[in-house]
Amino acid sequence: MKVLIVGGGSREHAITYAFAKSSYEPRIYAISPLRNPGIEKLCKESGGELIRGDILNPEKVSETAEKLGVDLVFIGPEEPLFHGVSDALEERGIPVIGLNSKASEIERSKAFMRRLMWKYKIPGRLRFKAFRSIEEAIAYINEYAESVAIKPARQVGGKGVKVISDVQAYLRKVKEEVKKKHTELIYEKFMRSHDDVVDKILIEEKVEGPEYTVQCFTDGKTVKPLPIVQDNKHAFEMEMGPETGGMGSISGRGGLLPFITEDEFKESVRIIEEVVKALRKETGTSFRGIISGQMMLTTLWGPTIIEFYSRLGDPEAVNVLPILKTDIVDISEAILSEKLHKIRIYFEDYATVVKAIAPRGYPNRKDLARGHVIRVNEEKIKRMGAEIFYGSVDIVNGKLITGGSRAVEIFAKGDSIEEAAEIAEKAVSYVESLDGWGLFHRSDIGSGVSLRRMIEMANLVRSVYSYRKSKGLFGKQIDWIPGRGKIGYEF
Ligand SMILES: Nc1ncnc2c1ncn2[C@@H]1O[C@H](COP(=O)(O)OP(=O)(O)O)[C@@H](O)[C@H]1O
Ligand SMILES: [Mg+2]
Repeated sequence: MKVLIVGGGSREHAITYAFAKSSYEPRIYAISPLRNPGIEKLCKESGGELIRGDILNPEKVSETAEKLGVDLVFIGPEEPLFHGVSDALEERGIPVIGLNSKASEIERSKAFMRRLMWKYKIPGRLRFKAFRSIEEAIAYINEYAESVAIKPARQVGGKGVKVISDVQAYLRKVKEEVKKKHTELIYEKFMRSHDDVVDKILIEEKVEGPEYTVQCFTDGKTVKPLPIVQDNKHAFEMEMGPETGGMGSISGRGGLLPFITEDEFKESVRIIEEVVKALRKETGTSFRGIISGQMMLTTLWGPTIIEFYSRLGDPEAVNVLPILKTDIVDISEAILSEKLHKIRIYFEDYATVVKAIAPRGYPNRKDLARGHVIRVNEEKIKRMGAEIFYGSVDIVNGKLITGGSRAVEIFAKGDSIEEAAEIAEKAVSYVESLDGWGLFHRSDIGSGVSLRRMIEMANLVRSVYSYRKSKGLFGKQIDWIPGRGKIGYEF
């Protein structure tokens, strides 16, 4: 059997790792623009190879797959899905795990996602307004926009969202300026170059609470969740600093997190199931791959959707794939034959922690963070019971060079999150910078302090949403504006 993995980051390294463990002993190929040494090694050991190539070109990827004669393609990142790589493979009759371009709209367009949730009255939806031009967005901000999140209406790889709390009347004018400036920035920096979506700016109501990700396999009908993971997005300790693609992530035993109840997990999965059903109806297509909810526990709904992924998260994938017990080839076959309801998916019962290590300058100055020589002592890391997953690195003249983003991710497991975090923390010291530039990571991820903070936040949110639920106010927010009267659900 031959498989082809599309993508070359830590998430794809974890996907390759899962295939390398398969009892079918597949020959593994990967296609990626950079030479990820972890993926390359696993490919070679299996008799396959890593091919450098453009993963956004549907023709090139499907041609490669056909030439290699692979039995299965597994797509890691979202952009190939948006570009129609999955569709091109299906056209050639090559089995592929990865949503088709129509279904991946659930991630690509945040406005499409919000409209879908409102149209099908799916719980966990937020009030929103989407704008096709900057002028319309600014006119709206002038008239009515209080505490809001302002976003690029397209997935732009995790940057560009600004959450603004606007509650003090005396600061209203200043806040209005901030909102306008940010709207202009989103348009200029993130949206001007994207002509594949009509909506440009999204303004949605601001909510607050602990965040978590529920990743699921789907065959377009059934949804099977993986253990819940919490990604820690900010660059510096205790959620300070700029947002990154994720500096690390945690997952608890039993597939849960210490601050999310089993009922909340079930409700989150139910929301994703409803979205899959709505997506099938709306797109008129069948689709196979991954769908994940990036969620927040809020006082409005309890489990609430912030955004959807049409793929596994990074770093979230690195928490769960190394402890996957069920053979990934069997899971893939169940997805492809639309028989996902027939198999049970097992994980080792461990808490897991992932810590990302990035070169200084990431995420705002990737130009400075790029091109530094680093060294990884794989043997020492393994000996500690941890695993290394390579991310944004390349091999140039035999040296490991940073690509500008998160260079490596360290995975560790334990009986508790804190135990796993301690192992990961120790392993971090075996990744070194060789040119004096410096690397950074977050030591608070998975620590007792950080967990207690999440638990307290969740308890507070839980008591409020439970109260609102008991009063029949779930998901409702009613304003009264002079001259306009009662405004119900929508902006
Ligand atoms: N409506 C919202 N209310 C409060 N915070 C939000 C809201 N939407 C997004 N955020 C915050 O901004 C972060 C990024 O937003 P998200 O929609 O996930 O965009 P992306 O990950 O593509 O940058 C979220 O993880 C969350 O912390
Ligand atoms: Mg996000």
